[in-house]
Amino acid sequence: MATKDTKRALRSQAWWDNSANPDMTALYLERFLNYGLTRGELQSGRPIIGIAQTGNDLVPCNRHHVALAGRVKDGIRDAGGIPFEFPVHPLQETGKRPTAALDRNLAYLGLVEVLYGYPLDGVVLTTGCDKTTPACLTAAATVNIPAIVLSGGPMLNGYYAGKRAGSGLVIWQCWRMLAAGEIGYDEFMDRVAASAPSVGHCNTMGTALSMNALVEALGMSLTGCAAIPAPYRERAQMAYETGRRAVALVHEDLTPRKVMTRQAFENAIVVASAIAASSNCPVHITSIARHVGVEVSTQDWQTVGGDIPVLTNVAPAGEFLGEDFYRAGGVPAVMHELFAAGRLHGDALTVTGRTVAENVRTTLTSDRAVIRSYQAPLVERGGFLVMSGNLFDSAVMKTSVIGEDFRKRYLSSPDHPDAFVARAIVFEGPEDYHARIDDPRLQVDERCILVIRYTGPLGYPGGAEVVNMQPPAALIAKGIEALPTLGDGRQSGTADAPSILNVSPEAAAGGNLAILKTGDLIHVDLKKARVDVLISDEEIAARRRAMPPLTFKNQTPWQELYRDTIGQLDTGACMEFATKYQDIAHTMGIP
Ligand code: FES
Ligand code: MG
Repeated sequence: MATKDTKRALRSQAWWDNSANPDMTALYLERFLNYGLTRGELQSGRPIIGIAQTGNDLVPCNRHHVALAGRVKDGIRDAGGIPFEFPVHPLQETGKRPTAALDRNLAYLGLVEVLYGYPLDGVVLTTGCDKTTPACLTAAATVNIPAIVLSGGPMLNGYYAGKRAGSGLVIWQCWRMLAAGEIGYDEFMDRVAASAPSVGHCNTMGTALSMNALVEALGMSLTGCAAIPAPYRERAQMAYETGRRAVALVHEDLTPRKVMTRQAFENAIVVASAIAASSNCPVHITSIARHVGVEVSTQDWQTVGGDIPVLTNVAPAGEFLGEDFYRAGGVPAVMHELFAAGRLHGDALTVTGRTVAENVRTTLTSDRAVIRSYQAPLVERGGFLVMSGNLFDSAVMKTSVIGEDFRKRYLSSPDHPDAFVARAIVFEGPEDYHARIDDPRLQVDERCILVIRYTGPLGYPGGAEVVNMQPPAALIAKGIEALPTLGDGRQSGTADAPSILNVSPEAAAGGNLAILKTGDLIHVDLKKARVDVLISDEEIAARRRAMPPLTFKNQTPWQELYRDTIGQLDTGACMEFATKYQDIAHTMGIP
């Protein structure tokens, strides 16, 4: 079902068209001629398509978008549009301190201002590394000009000594091997480098591949875009087709608000479960939804996605990597399974101009080892558990990555197969954790839960990916590879740890995690989705009264502004005031 071509006056003509704006046109126009554009082009009523460029030398995960933009421009030109490429504030997950998450909203703000304030009729959003995707989509949602995503795609598969070495995951695994004395630092670095063999983003189902898959599920990219490995020829061909389609979107006035509906978000949540998506996805998807005016709550991840099985055998939940996922059919093959099982809204409209059903009806997988059938999945239930209790209102747990060994140790009591009690070891952030985890005085044993606090959006600005803490080296050497963890920070989407994370409200926002003491007993009940410290309400109240008031030490102007405006992880870590600016493209009084 394609939307109708309306042949409306284009937004950009409020800048370029002499009759619309005779006084100002010369000023708006002349500087764009100085590198060779002609008045004929700019005043011809052709769609002006922005290319929001997230690639640069500071963002290696997206750097090949600099080259891909050439093919996007070819596509835009061939379809009758005029491309304008511009930079997005750099967002590199692994290089930005204190966190890349802090800058998600900064890049968002910058992009909103560009999309709003320049003569753009539509935009191609180049996405990849974790925060680039939500920053771009949230901005397009706010402004609501026609937008389409070009994912950058994962790196090629990494291999070390003949075995697959997946992004991020290899680091967590090698930390354990290093701690157990199985490898030295040089081998550690060689193994980690082997996981990054080419341009592209993480090749595991971390936050990057998860979020780009969810873009496809939301209907905001062409079918099959997310999984194409970055260096493949198909990636550049996809760039060309995306450019072409961007021009058509403008003619059809197919805006983000027409695509990103409640149905589309439910589809995204269902796909998230089926791919065992990163635990960062609920945060980002909530942010996008709030800015496009659709109600999505963290609870939806359990109600809508809780009983969806994991279909993709891709790390960290499974064994394969990005190239295997692509060859097996990628997101369309996963969506085909879900659609055939009646779990998707098939009539949701997408930027292809067609519905989800039309896009995925024939997209069968070619490899059942990588993409399972709905009837014979990798894991029966892939959704996030959304937890609450006397320490917090909301937290999520990615149950699909809980290992057998952990289940045996913690979840095998015949009376309470879904619950355990553990002694809390509390850390005041990642620096404290690294300084003390191997201190024998902590007496960490296999009946402990590692807790980290002051690591949420306010406490460690942006929210640090630190909840997937490793056990002390002495315990790892004894074969205990994972302890349960709890924290108000986030964790890498590539982590395979049994963590309760994204705790909201965080300790720094007055959450009860702040009153916890090392030695307290914590009761975790996966069936009831509850986490409770086993002390009385009176004791909790007394400890709260005794707490000194909290002050923040901002290191940059942006950190101060961020902390003044930021919400919690369970509501998307949005700048709360910003969510009221919706559908603003035409508020300047232009067409
Ligand atoms: Fe950039 Fe994983 S660090 S995609
Ligand atoms: Mg990450």
